[in-house]
Amino acid sequence: MIFASSNQHKKIERAGHAIRQGELVIFPTETVYGIGAAAHNPAAVAKLYAAKNRPQFNPLIVHCASKDAAFSLVKTTKLAQQLADAFWPGPMSIVLTSIKNSPICSLARAGLDSVALRVPANPICQELLQCAGMPVVAPSANPSGRLSPTDVAHLDSALMAKCAEVIDAGKCEAGIESTIIDARNKIPVILRPGPITHSQIEDYLGTKCVYASSVSSPTSPTSIAPMAPIAPGQLASHYAPIAPLRMNATRKQEGEIFIGFNTPHADFHLTKTGNLEEAAAHLFDMLHLADKQNPLAIAVAPIPNIGVGEAINERLERAAAPRN
Ligand code: TXA
Ligand code: MG
Repeated sequence: MIFASSNQHKKIERAGHAIRQGELVIFPTETVYGIGAAAHNPAAVAKLYAAKNRPQFNPLIVHCASKDAAFSLVKTTKLAQQLADAFWPGPMSIVLTSIKNSPICSLARAGLDSVALRVPANPICQELLQCAGMPVVAPSANPSGRLSPTDVAHLDSALMAKCAEVIDAGKCEAGIESTIIDARNKIPVILRPGPITHSQIEDYLGTKCVYASSVSSPTSPTSIAPMAPIAPGQLASHYAPIAPLRMNATRKQEGEIFIGFNTPHADFHLTKTGNLEEAAAHLFDMLHLADKQNPLAIAVAPIPNIGVGEAINERLERAAAPRN
């Protein structure tokens, strides 16, 4: 993790100012790089959707500096309070019912009466949120449907050109997007697996999680639906490299780049030791690297479907799904 230098502090201040002025800014979080806009400003949010070419039915996550700031925007629940106490600041987004007359513009919520909230832990992101002084909507900083960036080297130049500032803080620690939990009721519903695993949540709460029908679970690993009403953004094809992707590959076929998991003969390695956190942190980096070689396909070794391996497999399934 990189802390801000004095030049970096100035850049973050400029970025905070740019957000208040309705501009777009790319910044690091502990999961992936985000592209942020003022959550209350429909013109800024429209610019963000257009820059990413993101369908406007796909709502955005609202990033706040603190739990109090986040919960002032929603009808909170006991479950949400418990999750926030345990996992914020950190890589978890919590979906709750929005208050009436929310300052978060309806476009950012894709017209839903719910909103996804996140309080990130990355110190540079925290500083930016303080400087902006307002909630910031931030999807991953990639053209819609493409691989998320975990390093500024992954950023799309056309997307960068649409931003007032790009804050570079090296590689993102977790490397995959936040776990999204619907906490509107008593039972936690996993809308997107992520760095905080279902077992961590279950151990803390002493309650079982359930999986939204759009999400593959350990018991039904291939059940990705084309679209689920509860998480409109969970399209079957997502996080996709340019090259087609083949999962659970045990060996490389002609023209392929082979990404290994504890596999000695691979071209690139998610991990050489079988460490799932390391594999998650390297996932998008390796997919970006493999894609740059213009292979016929990218083959990825089997990833154990346990712990954060679940989130890795979910990303791979979407990357491998038929494209529109
Ligand atoms: O780690 C992350 O969450 C990153 C960083 C930048 O914070 N952001 C991120 O945003 O991954 P994005 O836009 O790429 O993914 C947001 C997901 C989408 O699948 C969207 O459908 C879902 O959050 N989402 C947002 N609001 C929702 C809501 N009210 N109900 C259900 N799903 C929601
Ligand atoms: Mg994304």
